[in-house]
Amino acid sequence: MRTQVAIIGAGPAGLLLGHLLRRAGIDAVVIEDRSRQHVEARIRAGVLEQSTVDLLVASGAGERLQRQGLRHHGIDLLFGGRRHHIDLSGPTGGRAITVYGQHEVVRDLIAARLADGAPLLFEASGVALHGIDGNAPGVTFERGGRRHTLHCDFIAGCDGFRGVSRGAIPASALQVFERTYPFAWLGILAEAAPAAQELIYASHARGFALFSMRSPQITRLYLQCRPDEDLTLWPDTRIWQELHARLETGDGWRLNEGPVLQKGITPMRSHVVEPMQYGRLFLAGDAAHIVPPTGAKGMNLAVADVRTLARALAAHYGECRDDLLAAYSATCLRRVWRAEYFSWWMTSLLHRFPDQTPFMARLQRAELEYVAASPAAAASLAENYVGLPFAAFEGE
Ligand code: FAD
Ligand code: DHB
Repeated sequence: MRTQVAIIGAGPAGLLLGHLLRRAGIDAVVIEDRSRQHVEARIRAGVLEQSTVDLLVASGAGERLQRQGLRHHGIDLLFGGRRHHIDLSGPTGGRAITVYGQHEVVRDLIAARLADGAPLLFEASGVALHGIDGNAPGVTFERGGRRHTLHCDFIAGCDGFRGVSRGAIPASALQVFERTYPFAWLGILAEAAPAAQELIYASHARGFALFSMRSPQITRLYLQCRPDEDLTLWPDTRIWQELHARLETGDGWRLNEGPVLQKGITPMRSHVVEPMQYGRLFLAGDAAHIVPPTGAKGMNLAVADVRTLARALAAHYGECRDDLLAAYSATCLRRVWRAEYFSWWMTSLLHRFPDQTPFMARLQRAELEYVAASPAAAASLAENYVGLPFAAFEGE
Protein backbone atom coordinates (compact mmCIF):
# COMPACT_ATOMS: atom_id res chain seq x y z
CA MET A 1 0.00 0.00 0.00
CA ARG A 2 1.14 3.54 -0.71
CA THR A 3 -0.26 6.95 0.13
CA GLN A 4 0.97 10.51 0.54
CA VAL A 5 0.09 10.95 4.22
CA ALA A 6 -0.43 8.13 6.73
CA ILE A 7 -2.68 9.35 9.53
CA ILE A 8 -2.60 7.38 12.77
CA GLY A 9 -5.78 7.76 14.85
CA ALA A 10 -9.42 8.49 13.98
CA GLY A 11 -10.19 11.01 16.70
CA PRO A 12 -11.06 14.62 15.87
CA ALA A 13 -7.45 15.39 14.85
CA GLY A 14 -6.92 12.45 12.47
CA LEU A 15 -10.38 12.57 10.90
CA LEU A 16 -10.35 16.32 10.31
CA LEU A 17 -6.83 16.16 8.87
CA GLY A 18 -7.97 13.45 6.47
CA HIS A 19 -10.97 15.56 5.50
CA LEU A 20 -8.94 18.77 4.92
CA LEU A 21 -6.29 16.89 2.91
CA ARG A 22 -8.94 15.30 0.75
CA ARG A 23 -10.34 18.72 -0.05
CA ALA A 24 -6.81 19.80 -1.02
CA GLY A 25 -6.43 16.79 -3.33
CA ILE A 26 -3.89 15.02 -1.10
CA ASP A 27 -4.21 11.26 -0.54
CA ALA A 28 -4.23 9.91 2.98
CA VAL A 29 -5.03 6.67 4.78
CA VAL A 30 -6.45 6.89 8.31
CA ILE A 31 -5.46 3.97 10.56
CA GLU A 32 -7.39 3.48 13.82
CA ASP A 33 -6.94 0.69 16.35
CA ARG A 34 -10.51 0.73 17.75
CA SER A 35 -13.84 -0.05 16.05
CA ARG A 36 -16.05 2.53 14.36
CA GLN A 37 -18.72 1.85 16.97
CA HIS A 38 -16.26 2.51 19.78
CA VAL A 39 -14.97 5.84 18.49
CA GLU A 40 -18.49 7.05 17.64
CA ALA A 41 -19.73 6.30 21.16
CA ARG A 42 -16.82 7.83 23.08
CA ILE A 43 -18.22 10.71 25.18
CA ARG A 44 -15.64 13.44 25.71
CA ALA A 45 -15.48 17.18 25.10
CA GLY A 46 -18.46 19.29 24.10
CA VAL A 47 -17.52 22.94 23.57
CA LEU A 48 -16.47 24.16 20.12
CA GLU A 49 -14.74 27.51 19.71
CA GLN A 50 -15.95 29.94 17.07
CA SER A 51 -12.98 29.20 14.78
CA THR A 52 -13.52 25.44 15.11
CA VAL A 53 -17.13 25.84 14.01
CA ASP A 54 -16.17 28.15 11.14
CA LEU A 55 -13.57 25.64 9.90
CA LEU A 56 -15.91 22.65 10.10
CA VAL A 57 -18.63 24.56 8.25
CA ALA A 58 -16.23 25.86 5.57
CA SER A 59 -14.87 22.33 5.06
CA GLY A 60 -18.35 20.99 4.31
CA ALA A 61 -18.59 18.86 7.47
CA GLY A 62 -20.69 21.29 9.51
CA GLU A 63 -24.20 20.78 8.20
CA ARG A 64 -25.54 18.83 11.20
CA LEU A 65 -23.45 20.95 13.57
CA GLN A 66 -25.22 24.07 12.26
CA ARG A 67 -28.62 22.42 12.69
CA GLN A 68 -28.13 20.75 16.08
CA GLY A 69 -25.29 22.66 17.78
CA LEU A 70 -26.34 24.95 20.63
CA ARG A 71 -24.84 28.41 20.20
CA HIS A 72 -24.07 30.10 23.53
CA HIS A 73 -23.25 33.77 24.03
CA GLY A 74 -22.35 33.57 27.71
CA ILE A 75 -21.45 31.38 30.67
CA ASP A 76 -22.11 31.68 34.39
CA LEU A 77 -19.52 31.61 37.14
CA LEU A 78 -21.01 30.47 40.45
CA PHE A 79 -19.25 31.35 43.69
CA GLY A 80 -20.23 32.71 47.08
CA GLY A 81 -23.73 31.29 46.56
CA ARG A 82 -24.43 33.53 43.53
CA ARG A 83 -24.25 33.16 39.77
CA HIS A 84 -22.35 35.81 37.83
CA HIS A 85 -22.98 36.08 34.11
CA ILE A 86 -20.00 36.44 31.77
CA ASP A 87 -20.89 37.79 28.34
CA LEU A 88 -18.84 36.01 25.68
CA SER A 89 -20.03 37.76 22.54
CA GLY A 90 -20.13 41.46 23.53
CA PRO A 91 -16.39 41.80 24.18
CA THR A 92 -15.37 39.54 21.26
CA GLY A 93 -17.16 41.15 18.33
CA GLY A 94 -19.98 38.62 18.30
CA ARG A 95 -17.94 35.43 18.66
CA ALA A 96 -19.57 32.57 20.59
CA ILE A 97 -19.13 28.93 21.53
CA THR A 98 -21.20 26.03 20.22
CA VAL A 99 -22.11 23.09 22.43
CA TYR A 100 -21.91 19.96 20.23
CA GLY A 101 -20.47 16.66 21.44
CA GLN A 102 -17.04 15.56 20.26
CA HIS A 103 -18.53 12.19 19.29
CA GLU A 104 -20.97 14.02 17.00
CA VAL A 105 -18.03 15.78 15.28
CA VAL A 106 -16.37 12.37 14.95
CA ARG A 107 -19.55 10.85 13.47
CA ASP A 108 -19.89 13.68 10.94
CA LEU A 109 -16.26 13.35 9.83
CA ILE A 110 -16.48 9.56 9.52
CA ALA A 111 -19.65 9.91 7.44
CA ALA A 112 -17.96 12.49 5.19
CA ARG A 113 -14.90 10.27 4.69
CA LEU A 114 -16.94 7.18 3.90
CA ALA A 115 -19.15 9.18 1.50
CA ASP A 116 -15.95 10.30 -0.28
CA GLY A 117 -14.83 6.68 -0.56
CA ALA A 118 -11.57 7.63 1.20
CA PRO A 119 -9.61 4.99 3.13
CA LEU A 120 -10.41 4.73 6.83
CA LEU A 121 -9.18 1.52 8.46
CA PHE A 122 -10.71 0.61 11.82
CA GLU A 123 -9.50 -2.20 14.06
CA ALA A 124 -5.87 -2.07 12.92
CA SER A 125 -3.69 -3.50 15.68
CA GLY A 126 0.05 -3.49 16.38
CA VAL A 127 0.53 -0.15 14.61
CA ALA A 128 4.25 0.72 14.30
CA LEU A 129 6.10 3.61 12.63
CA HIS A 130 9.24 3.13 10.54
CA GLY A 131 11.89 5.30 8.93
CA ILE A 132 10.63 8.61 10.26
CA ASP A 133 14.12 10.10 10.14
CA GLY A 134 14.65 9.14 6.49
CA ASN A 135 12.70 10.06 3.35
CA ALA A 136 10.76 6.81 2.92
CA PRO A 137 8.71 6.38 6.10
CA GLY A 138 6.08 3.73 6.58
CA VAL A 139 3.53 2.30 8.95
CA THR A 140 2.97 -1.40 9.63
CA PHE A 141 -0.12 -2.90 11.26
CA GLU A 142 -2.28 -6.00 11.43
CA ARG A 143 -5.82 -6.10 10.15
CA GLY A 144 -8.13 -8.90 9.16
CA GLY A 145 -5.50 -11.46 10.25
CA ARG A 146 -2.83 -10.04 7.88
CA ARG A 147 0.22 -7.84 8.32
CA HIS A 148 0.21 -4.69 6.17
CA THR A 149 2.82 -2.08 5.26
CA LEU A 150 1.75 1.41 4.25
CA HIS A 151 4.47 3.41 2.49
CA CYS A 152 4.06 7.18 2.58
CA ASP A 153 5.75 10.60 2.33
CA PHE A 154 4.69 11.81 5.79
CA ILE A 155 3.12 10.41 8.95
CA ALA A 156 0.64 12.39 11.05
CA GLY A 157 0.60 11.13 14.65
CA CYS A 158 -2.99 11.87 15.69
CA ASP A 159 -3.31 8.93 18.09
CA GLY A 160 -3.96 10.80 21.32
CA PHE A 161 -2.08 10.83 24.59
CA ARG A 162 -1.76 7.04 24.83
CA GLY A 163 -0.89 6.39 21.19
CA VAL A 164 2.36 5.06 19.72
CA SER A 165 3.48 8.02 17.59
CA ARG A 166 5.05 10.20 20.27
CA GLY A 167 7.02 7.19 21.53
CA ALA A 168 8.53 6.67 18.05
CA ILE A 169 10.54 9.87 18.55
CA PRO A 170 13.85 9.39 20.41
CA ALA A 171 13.40 10.68 23.96
CA SER A 172 16.57 12.75 23.55
CA ALA A 173 14.90 14.75 20.76
CA LEU A 174 11.90 15.81 22.87
CA GLN A 175 11.45 18.19 25.74
CA VAL A 176 8.51 17.35 28.01
CA PHE A 177 6.63 19.93 30.10
CA GLU A 178 4.19 18.46 32.60
CA ARG A 179 1.95 19.17 35.57
CA THR A 180 -0.53 16.86 37.24
CA TYR A 181 -3.33 18.21 39.42
CA PRO A 182 -4.37 16.73 42.76
CA PHE A 183 -7.95 16.05 41.58
CA ALA A 184 -9.97 14.59 38.68
CA TRP A 185 -13.47 15.08 37.21
CA LEU A 186 -16.30 12.63 37.61
CA GLY A 187 -18.54 13.21 34.59
CA ILE A 188 -22.07 11.99 33.88
CA LEU A 189 -24.43 12.18 30.94
CA ALA A 190 -28.05 12.27 32.12
CA GLU A 191 -31.33 11.94 30.31
CA ALA A 192 -32.73 15.14 31.74
CA ALA A 193 -33.67 18.46 30.18
CA PRO A 194 -30.96 21.06 30.95
CA ALA A 195 -32.37 23.32 33.68
CA ALA A 196 -30.38 26.35 32.47
CA GLN A 197 -29.64 27.76 29.01
CA GLU A 198 -25.92 28.27 29.52
CA LEU A 199 -22.96 26.49 31.15
CA ILE A 200 -22.34 27.02 34.86
CA TYR A 201 -18.80 26.77 36.25
CA ALA A 202 -19.08 26.49 40.04
CA SER A 203 -16.45 27.09 42.69
CA HIS A 204 -17.81 25.55 45.89
CA ALA A 205 -16.34 24.69 49.28
CA ARG A 206 -17.07 21.01 48.47
CA GLY A 207 -15.17 21.31 45.18
CA PHE A 208 -15.68 22.39 41.58
CA ALA A 209 -18.78 21.44 39.59
CA LEU A 210 -19.78 22.08 35.98
CA PHE A 211 -23.24 22.13 34.45
CA SER A 212 -23.31 21.57 30.70
CA MET A 213 -25.54 19.89 28.14
CA ARG A 214 -25.61 18.04 24.84
CA SER A 215 -29.15 18.68 23.58
CA PRO A 216 -32.52 19.92 24.83
CA GLN A 217 -32.98 16.42 26.36
CA ILE A 218 -29.49 15.63 27.67
CA THR A 219 -27.56 17.24 30.54
CA ARG A 220 -23.79 16.82 30.98
CA LEU A 221 -22.42 17.32 34.50
CA TYR A 222 -19.03 17.14 36.16
CA LEU A 223 -17.80 17.07 39.76
CA GLN A 224 -14.31 17.57 41.11
CA CYS A 225 -13.25 14.30 42.79
CA ARG A 226 -10.06 12.67 44.04
CA PRO A 227 -7.51 11.71 41.37
CA ASP A 228 -7.73 8.03 42.41
CA GLU A 229 -11.51 8.10 42.89
CA ASP A 230 -13.28 4.72 42.85
CA LEU A 231 -16.41 5.00 40.69
CA THR A 232 -18.08 2.13 42.53
CA LEU A 233 -18.27 4.41 45.58
CA TRP A 234 -20.41 6.82 43.55
CA PRO A 235 -23.91 5.42 43.09
CA ASP A 236 -26.19 7.79 41.15
CA THR A 237 -27.87 9.06 44.33
CA ARG A 238 -24.54 10.24 45.75
CA ILE A 239 -23.62 11.94 42.47
CA TRP A 240 -26.94 13.83 42.34
CA GLN A 241 -26.67 14.81 45.99
CA GLU A 242 -23.25 16.29 45.40
CA LEU A 243 -24.34 18.05 42.21
CA HIS A 244 -27.34 19.62 43.97
CA ALA A 245 -25.10 20.79 46.81
CA ARG A 246 -22.49 22.40 44.55
CA LEU A 247 -24.64 23.84 41.77
CA GLU A 248 -27.85 25.03 43.39
CA THR A 249 -28.20 28.49 44.88
CA GLY A 250 -30.72 29.83 47.35
CA ASP A 251 -32.91 31.35 44.61
CA GLY A 252 -35.02 28.24 43.95
CA TRP A 253 -33.17 27.10 40.79
CA ARG A 254 -33.07 23.27 40.71
CA LEU A 255 -31.15 20.79 38.60
CA ASN A 256 -33.30 18.34 36.66
CA GLU A 257 -32.47 14.73 37.46
CA GLY A 258 -32.83 11.83 35.04
CA PRO A 259 -31.40 8.39 34.28
CA VAL A 260 -27.59 8.39 34.16
CA LEU A 261 -26.61 7.20 30.68
CA GLN A 262 -22.84 7.19 31.14
CA LYS A 263 -20.29 7.99 33.83
CA GLY A 264 -16.51 8.23 33.91
CA ILE A 265 -13.47 9.82 35.49
CA THR A 266 -11.25 12.27 33.60
CA PRO A 267 -7.75 12.83 35.00
CA MET A 268 -6.42 16.39 35.08
CA ARG A 269 -3.02 17.10 33.61
CA SER A 270 -1.08 19.61 31.58
CA HIS A 271 1.48 18.07 29.23
CA VAL A 272 3.36 19.44 26.21
CA VAL A 273 6.14 17.95 24.10
CA GLU A 274 8.44 20.10 22.02
CA PRO A 275 8.98 20.03 19.14
CA MET A 276 5.78 18.58 17.66
CA GLN A 277 7.76 17.19 14.70
CA TYR A 278 10.61 14.76 14.16
CA GLY A 279 11.77 14.05 10.60
CA ARG A 280 8.73 12.96 8.58
CA LEU A 281 6.48 12.55 11.64
CA PHE A 282 4.17 15.39 12.71
CA LEU A 283 2.29 15.12 16.00
CA ALA A 284 -1.15 16.74 16.33
CA GLY A 285 -3.74 17.03 19.09
CA ASP A 286 -3.50 15.06 22.33
CA ALA A 287 -0.51 13.11 20.95
CA ALA A 288 1.48 16.32 21.48
CA HIS A 289 -0.32 18.13 24.30
CA ILE A 290 -2.91 17.73 27.03
CA VAL A 291 -4.78 20.46 28.91
CA PRO A 292 -6.99 20.06 31.96
CA PRO A 293 -10.57 20.23 30.64
CA THR A 294 -11.66 23.34 32.60
CA GLY A 295 -11.04 25.73 29.70
CA ALA A 296 -12.69 23.38 27.15
CA LYS A 297 -9.62 23.62 24.90
CA GLY A 298 -8.53 20.00 24.17
CA MET A 299 -10.53 19.28 21.03
CA ASN A 300 -10.17 22.86 19.78
CA LEU A 301 -6.39 22.64 19.95
CA ALA A 302 -6.47 19.37 18.01
CA VAL A 303 -8.49 21.14 15.31
CA ALA A 304 -6.11 24.12 15.18
CA ASP A 305 -3.07 21.79 14.83
CA VAL A 306 -4.46 19.87 11.88
CA ARG A 307 -5.57 23.03 10.13
CA THR A 308 -1.95 24.22 10.31
CA LEU A 309 -0.65 20.82 9.16
CA ALA A 310 -3.11 20.56 6.26
CA ARG A 311 -2.10 24.01 5.00
CA ALA A 312 1.60 23.14 5.30
CA LEU A 313 1.12 19.87 3.40
CA ALA A 314 -0.91 21.68 0.73
CA ALA A 315 2.00 24.14 0.28
CA HIS A 316 4.42 21.18 0.01
CA TYR A 317 2.45 19.30 -2.64
CA GLY A 318 0.87 22.27 -4.44
CA GLU A 319 3.65 24.85 -4.45
CA CYS A 320 6.82 22.83 -3.64
CA ARG A 321 7.20 25.04 -0.54
CA ASP A 322 8.40 23.51 2.73
CA ASP A 323 8.60 26.64 4.88
CA LEU A 324 5.18 25.99 6.43
CA LEU A 325 6.09 22.39 7.27
CA ALA A 326 9.35 23.63 8.83
CA ALA A 327 7.37 26.16 10.89
CA TYR A 328 4.61 23.68 11.87
CA SER A 329 5.75 22.96 15.41
CA ALA A 330 6.56 26.58 16.31
CA THR A 331 3.26 27.82 14.83
CA CYS A 332 1.19 25.27 16.76
CA LEU A 333 3.09 25.74 20.01
CA ARG A 334 2.25 29.44 20.21
CA ARG A 335 -1.45 28.60 20.39
CA VAL A 336 -0.82 25.51 22.55
CA TRP A 337 0.94 27.53 25.25
CA ARG A 338 -1.79 30.19 25.30
CA ALA A 339 -4.36 27.40 25.83
CA GLU A 340 -2.13 25.73 28.42
CA TYR A 341 -2.02 28.99 30.35
CA PHE A 342 -5.74 29.62 30.11
CA SER A 343 -6.62 26.04 31.10
CA TRP A 344 -4.25 26.17 34.08
CA TRP A 345 -5.72 29.55 35.08
CA MET A 346 -9.37 28.38 34.86
CA THR A 347 -8.45 25.22 36.77
CA SER A 348 -6.65 27.16 39.51
CA LEU A 349 -9.47 29.69 39.73
CA LEU A 350 -12.27 27.18 40.25
CA HIS A 351 -10.98 24.07 42.05
CA ARG A 352 -10.43 23.30 45.70
CA PHE A 353 -6.79 22.27 46.18
CA PRO A 354 -6.25 19.75 49.00
CA ASP A 355 -3.28 21.74 50.32
CA GLN A 356 -4.93 25.13 49.81
CA THR A 357 -3.90 27.57 52.55
CA PRO A 358 -6.38 30.21 53.78
CA PHE A 359 -4.16 32.76 52.03
CA MET A 360 -4.52 31.00 48.65
CA ALA A 361 -8.27 30.62 49.19
CA ARG A 362 -8.58 34.39 49.69
CA LEU A 363 -6.52 35.07 46.53
CA GLN A 364 -8.77 32.72 44.56
CA ARG A 365 -11.87 34.51 45.82
CA ALA A 366 -10.38 37.92 45.00
CA GLU A 367 -9.68 36.77 41.44
CA LEU A 368 -13.23 35.39 41.02
CA GLU A 369 -14.71 38.67 42.25
CA TYR A 370 -12.46 40.62 39.89
CA VAL A 371 -13.49 38.54 36.86
CA ALA A 372 -17.17 38.93 37.78
CA ALA A 373 -16.97 42.69 38.39
CA SER A 374 -14.41 44.03 35.92
CA PRO A 375 -15.40 44.31 32.24
CA ALA A 376 -11.69 44.14 31.32
CA ALA A 377 -11.10 40.91 33.27
CA ALA A 378 -14.34 39.37 31.98
CA ALA A 379 -13.39 40.33 28.41
CA SER A 380 -10.08 38.52 28.78
CA LEU A 381 -11.87 35.37 29.96
CA ALA A 382 -14.36 35.70 27.07
CA GLU A 383 -11.64 36.21 24.44
CA ASN A 384 -9.79 33.08 25.55
CA TYR A 385 -12.91 30.98 26.08
CA VAL A 386 -14.44 31.61 22.63
CA GLY A 387 -10.91 31.12 21.26
CA LEU A 388 -8.53 33.49 19.55
CA PRO A 389 -8.71 33.52 15.74
CA PHE A 390 -6.30 31.18 13.91
CA ALA A 391 -4.52 34.21 12.44
CA ALA A 392 -3.53 35.41 15.93
CA PHE A 393 -0.84 32.71 16.09
CA GLU A 394 0.33 32.67 12.48
CA GLY A 395 3.37 34.59 11.24
CA GLU A 396 6.31 35.54 13.40
P1 FAD B 1 -8.16 11.38 20.53
O1 FAD B 1 -9.55 11.88 20.51
O2 FAD B 1 -7.65 10.73 21.74
O3 FAD B 1 -8.02 10.42 19.27
C1 FAD B 1 -6.92 9.56 19.12
C2 FAD B 1 -7.35 8.36 18.32
O4 FAD B 1 -6.23 7.52 18.08
C3 FAD B 1 -8.37 7.51 19.06
O5 FAD B 1 -9.45 7.19 18.20
C4 FAD B 1 -7.59 6.27 19.47
O6 FAD B 1 -8.43 5.12 19.56
C5 FAD B 1 -6.60 6.18 18.34
N1 FAD B 1 -5.37 5.45 18.70
C6 FAD B 1 -4.71 5.43 19.88
N2 FAD B 1 -3.64 4.66 19.82
C7 FAD B 1 -3.59 4.18 18.56
C8 FAD B 1 -2.71 3.31 17.88
N3 FAD B 1 -1.65 2.79 18.49
N4 FAD B 1 -2.95 3.03 16.58
C9 FAD B 1 -4.02 3.56 15.94
N5 FAD B 1 -4.91 4.38 16.54
C10 FAD B 1 -4.69 4.69 17.84
N6 FAD B 1 -11.72 17.90 26.61
C11 FAD B 1 -12.54 18.85 26.98
O7 FAD B 1 -12.36 19.99 26.54
N7 FAD B 1 -13.59 18.60 27.82
C12 FAD B 1 -13.83 17.35 28.30
O8 FAD B 1 -14.77 17.14 29.08
C13 FAD B 1 -12.97 16.34 27.95
N8 FAD B 1 -13.16 15.11 28.42
C14 FAD B 1 -12.27 14.16 28.09
C15 FAD B 1 -12.45 12.89 28.63
C16 FAD B 1 -11.52 11.89 28.35
C17 FAD B 1 -11.71 10.53 28.97
C18 FAD B 1 -10.42 12.17 27.49
C19 FAD B 1 -9.40 11.10 27.19
C20 FAD B 1 -10.28 13.43 26.94
C21 FAD B 1 -11.19 14.44 27.25
N9 FAD B 1 -11.06 15.72 26.72
C22 FAD B 1 -11.90 16.67 27.07
C23 FAD B 1 -10.01 16.07 25.78
C24 FAD B 1 -10.46 15.97 24.31
O9 FAD B 1 -11.42 14.98 24.20
C25 FAD B 1 -9.22 15.69 23.50
O10 FAD B 1 -8.40 16.83 23.56
C26 FAD B 1 -9.50 15.31 22.03
O11 FAD B 1 -10.08 14.03 21.99
C27 FAD B 1 -8.21 15.32 21.22
O12 FAD B 1 -8.43 14.74 19.97
P2 FAD B 1 -7.31 13.85 19.27
O13 FAD B 1 -7.87 13.49 17.94
O14 FAD B 1 -6.01 14.55 19.34
O15 FAD B 1 -7.14 12.58 20.21
C1 DHB C 1 -17.82 20.43 28.69
C2 DHB C 1 -16.56 19.99 28.98
C3 DHB C 1 -15.61 20.88 29.44
O1 DHB C 1 -14.37 20.45 29.71
C4 DHB C 1 -15.91 22.22 29.62
O2 DHB C 1 -14.97 23.05 30.09
C5 DHB C 1 -17.18 22.65 29.33
C6 DHB C 1 -18.14 21.76 28.87
C7 DHB C 1 -18.82 19.47 28.21
O3 DHB C 1 -18.49 18.28 28.13
O4 DHB C 1 -19.95 19.87 27.89
